[in-house]
Amino acid sequence: MNKHVLSSDEIIKRMSLKEKIGQMNQLPPILFLGSSLAEVTGYLRDLNLDEEKIYTSGSILGIGGPKEMLELQELYIKKASHNVPLLIMADVIHGYKTIFPVPIALASSFNQEIAKLAARVSAKEAYTSGIHVVFSPMCDLSRDPRWGRVVEGFGEDVYLVGEMAKAMVEGYTNNGKFGEGTVAACIKHFAGYGACEGGRDYNTVDLSRLSLYRDYLPAYKKALEAGADFVMTSFNTIDGVPSTINSFLLKDVLRGKWKSNAITIADYDALNQVIDHGAAENQKVAALKGIKAGLDIEMASSVYMNYLEILVNEGLVKEEEIDVAIKRIIDVKIKLGLFSNPYTGADEQNENDLVLSKEHLDKAKIAALESTVLLENNGVLPLDEKVKIALVGPYASSRSVVGPWSWHGRHDLHSSLEDVLSNNLVFISNSYDFENYSKADLQAIREADVLIFALGEDSSLSGEAHSRSKIDLPNEQESFYKKMKDFGKKSVVLIFGGRPLLLSGFKSADAMMMCWFLGSSSSEAIYDLLFGKVSPSGKLPMSFPRNVGQIPVYYNHFNTGRPYIEKSNNMYVSKYLDVENTPLYPFGYGLSYGKFRYENLSVSKKVINKSDILEVNVEVFNDAEFSAKEVVQLYIRDFVADIVRPIKELKQFQKVLISGKTSLTLQFKLSVDDLSYINEEGNKCVESGRFAIYIGGSSDKYIETEVYLDMEE
Ligand code: NOJ
Repeated sequence: MNKHVLSSDEIIKRMSLKEKIGQMNQLPPILFLGSSLAEVTGYLRDLNLDEEKIYTSGSILGIGGPKEMLELQELYIKKASHNVPLLIMADVIHGYKTIFPVPIALASSFNQEIAKLAARVSAKEAYTSGIHVVFSPMCDLSRDPRWGRVVEGFGEDVYLVGEMAKAMVEGYTNNGKFGEGTVAACIKHFAGYGACEGGRDYNTVDLSRLSLYRDYLPAYKKALEAGADFVMTSFNTIDGVPSTINSFLLKDVLRGKWKSNAITIADYDALNQVIDHGAAENQKVAALKGIKAGLDIEMASSVYMNYLEILVNEGLVKEEEIDVAIKRIIDVKIKLGLFSNPYTGADEQNENDLVLSKEHLDKAKIAALESTVLLENNGVLPLDEKVKIALVGPYASSRSVVGPWSWHGRHDLHSSLEDVLSNNLVFISNSYDFENYSKADLQAIREADVLIFALGEDSSLSGEAHSRSKIDLPNEQESFYKKMKDFGKKSVVLIFGGRPLLLSGFKSADAMMMCWFLGSSSSEAIYDLLFGKVSPSGKLPMSFPRNVGQIPVYYNHFNTGRPYIEKSNNMYVSKYLDVENTPLYPFGYGLSYGKFRYENLSVSKKVINKSDILEVNVEVFNDAEFSAKEVVQLYIRDFVADIVRPIKELKQFQKVLISGKTSLTLQFKLSVDDLSYINEEGNKCVESGRFAIYIGGSSDKYIETEVYLDMEE
């Protein structure tokens, strides 16, 4: 099928204006095929498109497998008037058919290699179904667990979000070595989507330029620099202008400051929705504002299709403006090999062999093992091989642990907790209606050594359009847990969910583990963790609040002019009357079967200048017998600057295995870049002054030292 491929300029020269405009449109496959096995990810308006227009559309949103891809591409090539194949894009978020932990869980691994592994496997599987571009990773930082989409992101910290997003892009694109088993990445949602007011999805975003540049934009930038070819605009407004038509974002920042050539694509129907926002009178104005702002592709709408040609004929848009956009699109189609082989990747046999293969499921298990966070443990874990278990709660025998955004995941194929724990079970029930437990049930429970509670929120309670105002465990799970505690048994609480939840009511458990949604190998991984085949090593990528009123609660806040100081008798400080300032579990927190102690923190120099590389050494002891991985976190504090700096900022971390009863000396290298900050104009600034360096296993537990940065030297 390999043939001589023309350059994008040559291809564009041969296309009519209509055909060019078609490249700037993306439609779901159902419009071509009448029916489709692809996911439906939004409400489809009547797009008012005839067959001729449909067959100019340049890309597809979702595909129902290789067979459907082959059929669709063949039909398209036959019917389209031009020779530009369709680009297939799809929501592969944390796996195609082998499902990996949800992104918030992957972030808990604090391990870029794990994120990369997940993306590599996802790319290989997606490729066999004919997908060319995945709508992932989501780079939206969020500090609000009410937002349903925190499950799709990497948490509250700008550095962690950026690192995870970068790793995923590298995994999808195989470090930019496009070819077999590789897909392009479309990062999203540009920009600031995670800051929606009150955590209500699609809601208004009102961010200061400072916070936008400092907290929200860097992760998108990092992912683009890692090689993402697409960037999806967000549903929200920035400074009152919907992102989809926001030239500050799409031109000044993306093309101007960042010099990025990534293709911009609207989120689902978002170009149309600028009318609902009240930012355009009608579709014609929306189309004009879209192209002028630098939007290359509209998704699941027909605004460009219906009005760009008219705008060109009226002289309001120049054909060259369209050419700029479609050159980017054609170039990516060439890069992905579509002109050599429009059916690239799609292969039923390969798909059968590859998806859910043992190798892939094993990799999903490795990721699940590292993504689980141990929140409490008084020594009850790991369990003894012979322990008798009563397993109760809604996730006891549920196989629905793949989480939201796993369209092609197969719940029925995976093991439940009941399956993996069967040898130890003396009782199992999915019910948390305590009153309905029979006498025989109660007797069986009495025989158990340990009660394992498999609790949480259903996966339908997080994801797009699934925000919650309460983030407790639904229904009567907490009171059920309390009643069951009366049995006086050891209790282990496993929490499933897509967001930080309110867990104060379960803190009395002998052990508690945040399992998120761990994907296809969830139960096997949990088994290994419970029985100590491996130690949990995840850390929280988001603070877990004590109550909803505390939100947003995040570790890298400002000091304020009246900080709360414990045991001080000054009452005029920044605090609540009814809850502590700290979260229940802070960012970076997570326990282990290892027992880590941090000592011997030293720096190569106490006073550094702008060209110095500061070496920071620390010795981490594992006082337990158990070999375990620890996430060694390095935070800094810039005490004084022209603009106020956070009380702590994560700058680097290393995840290392430390054998039992040994220690490891780790070295971090900090440059002046690590001590710089971004100001409200998006510029990097560095100032002389004192900096604290904190190193530890959590954002609230560390040892520290101080250095002075002298910029004059
Ligand atoms: C809307 C979502 O916001 C986005 O994340 C997703 O990729 C698109 N729909 C396509 O399904």
